[in-house]
Amino acid sequence: MRKVGIVGIGHVGATVAHLIVSQGLADELVLIDKKPEKVASEALDFSDAASLLDKHIDVHVGDYPDLADADVVISALGHIHPIKPDGDRFGELKANLPMAKQVGADLKAVGFNGVLLAISNPVDVITGIYQQATGLPSAQVIGTGTYLDTARLKRVFGEALGVDPRSVNGYVLGEHGASQFAAWSTINVMGQNARTWAAEKSLDLDKLENDARVGGFTVHSGKGYTNFAIAHAAVSLLQIILSDARKEAIVSHYNEDFDGYISSPAIIGRGGVVANFDLPLTAEEQDKLAASAKAIQTKTADYS
Ligand code: 2OP
Repeated sequence: MRKVGIVGIGHVGATVAHLIVSQGLADELVLIDKKPEKVASEALDFSDAASLLDKHIDVHVGDYPDLADADVVISALGHIHPIKPDGDRFGELKANLPMAKQVGADLKAVGFNGVLLAISNPVDVITGIYQQATGLPSAQVIGTGTYLDTARLKRVFGEALGVDPRSVNGYVLGEHGASQFAAWSTINVMGQNARTWAAEKSLDLDKLENDARVGGFTVHSGKGYTNFAIAHAAVSLLQIILSDARKEAIVSHYNEDFDGYISSPAIIGRGGVVANFDLPLTAEEQDKLAASAKAIQTKTADYS
């Protein structure tokens, strides 16, 4: 039995739930939100769809005791707060930090011992708060991090080359925010490195990197929030976890070099981060990753 909980049923949480229900990715889905009427209506709406689905799924409103035996809990809680033009998301910290501390304590109190997947922003900091509040091993507490930023980089680079973004390989590393960077030494299409493509096709890599960095701000500016891409990022990671795929994915996870959460690739399975390898980066990229970790630490102090 695959049991998943979602805490926070706003635009993002509801979209995550819809993907899980429509793709039949769980056998039981527990919805938790501080607005009882809202979450009850979402559950009822999903129940109305039940006779039209290919697979059975038990979707219901719950509370933290219901999550004690969940395989994965997804945190989508958070106030809608504008993403800044440079991609900074720390404006949400003051509101989201106390909520994450409380949810983490509630999960600890019921003995939750699955994987906690955080979406809530600023996700690198919030994921670290969840690890501290739950007391779970750091491997079991991960965030969507730059999984989505990497998808945005694949979009813009694929568009520049005229290829499907799924044909673009490599990573955006660091903060899910302003200090993220495209690790160009890792980015390639058909085995050819991005810098070689840029020389051949006269591509402006700095512009492409920034277009990806501000992708969330761009969408947020037009519709007041983002939900579809971030929900697909979360559900993609959920599938890797539930199937124990031991698959490479870029997530915000504990980095002992920086004693904090930041995004780099890891091997993900049922236990969360099941294996971790140092990514071969250039000296410049290593410096950028360290600078991003410092930026997260500095902004955490400034906003706390
Ligand atoms: C985004 O970039 C919500 O931070 C998320 O869309």
